Amino acid sequence: TALKLGMIPADGIGKEVLPAAQRVLEALGSSIPKPTFIPLKAGWEEFQANGKALPDETVKILKEECDAAMFGSVSSPSHKVAGYSSPIVALRKHLDLYANVRPVSSVPIPNQKSYHQCDMVIVRENTECLYIKKEEIKTNDDGSKIALATRQITSRASSRIGKMAFEIALRRGQERQQAKESGKDVWWNGEPKVTIVHKSNVLSVTDGLFRESVRAIKEGTDRYDGVKMEEQLVDSMVYRMFREPEIFDVAVAPNLYGDIISDGAAALVGSLGLVPSINAGDDFVMGEPVHGSAPDIEGQNIANPIASIRSAALLLSSLGYVEPASRINAAVDAVLTEGQYLTPDLGGKSSTTDVTEAILKRL
Ligand code: NAI
Ligand code: MG
Repeated sequence: TALKLGMIPADGIGKEVLPAAQRVLEALGSSIPKPTFIPLKAGWEEFQANGKALPDETVKILKEECDAAMFGSVSSPSHKVAGYSSPIVALRKHLDLYANVRPVSSVPIPNQKSYHQCDMVIVRENTECLYIKKEEIKTNDDGSKIALATRQITSRASSRIGKMAFEIALRRGQERQQAKESGKDVWWNGEPKVTIVHKSNVLSVTDGLFRESVRAIKEGTDRYDGVKMEEQLVDSMVYRMFREPEIFDVAVAPNLYGDIISDGAAALVGSLGLVPSINAGDDFVMGEPVHGSAPDIEGQNIANPIASIRSAALLLSSLGYVEPASRINAAVDAVLTEGQYLTPDLGGKSSTTDVTEAILKRL
């Protein structure tokens, strides 16, 4: 059998880092079914060339032919452009990829760029909140303008993301237990924990529903008795994450808060170029680095490919290929520890290609 993967590099450094992930997947040999890669179009450049940021063909092929997919990054303009809408937001909706799972962990680089004790997973709701993009602008009688956005929170979406978070916490607890038993150094000694991130002191209706729905997941069963549940208001979440990231295990958040705290967490561990994610639904999964198209460094072959490569590992492990996934992560860690091949975001001088090749060599 083969593994059919839709590959959507999209814009900017997506076109540089996605091929790196592809090379790593190709290098795994018979430990996974032979991957076939189907290049697919989407993005701002595609919009400018052909008028559609997300061609119907791309969605059709993903749905009908692919087992899973990898996405690079898209450039979205900061102003409204008629007919344009972010293809990644649309893809998450079309494929009902309701969870964005973002593990953020410090890396063993020698130059102290990475905080020494951070190992958390941010579980971001991926389909609603302010990202439903219902915005309108009106003009008041005095000619001044008022812009309004609708924020949608549903109990359905909040419950399923809550369940995902508790399941991840449960699994991480088991994995840490196994690691300890096999003599590995595990610094987390507490029970698994889910932190609910919200702002229901101010937004008591919307964030209130999110909070209640996630709480009900734990309260409705004894399955999660071994998982602690805590809450943090989103602003103090940022503060505590920077002060003492080691206290967090799994954090679950509505879409916008999840987006923001993920970039913050990426800074903690050294670079956005390190942090992977998967967009996961019940039927499909798509790997995607957390970063954007990075126009400030595109086209120079200096983007860090590790976020993209780790996204491929995350994708594999979510498809059940756990051993090949951990081989990829071990190769990445080895290259980081060695410190000889680091891209400029990590204080090094190596190119995207150099780092990719160093990882391939380790594999
Ligand atoms: P960004 O994530 O592209 O870049 C932020 C900073 O991190 C930049 O200084 C960039 O050089 C650095 N960076 C990001 N990835 C890196 C990597 N792999 N290696 C080394 N350095 C890296 O965010 P920014 O600049 O705010 O947005 C640029 C464009 O990306 C915008 O058009 C935005 O809409 C889009 N974007 C797309 C996302 C996606 O495709 N999922 C997510 C976030 C932003
Ligand atoms: Mg983001």
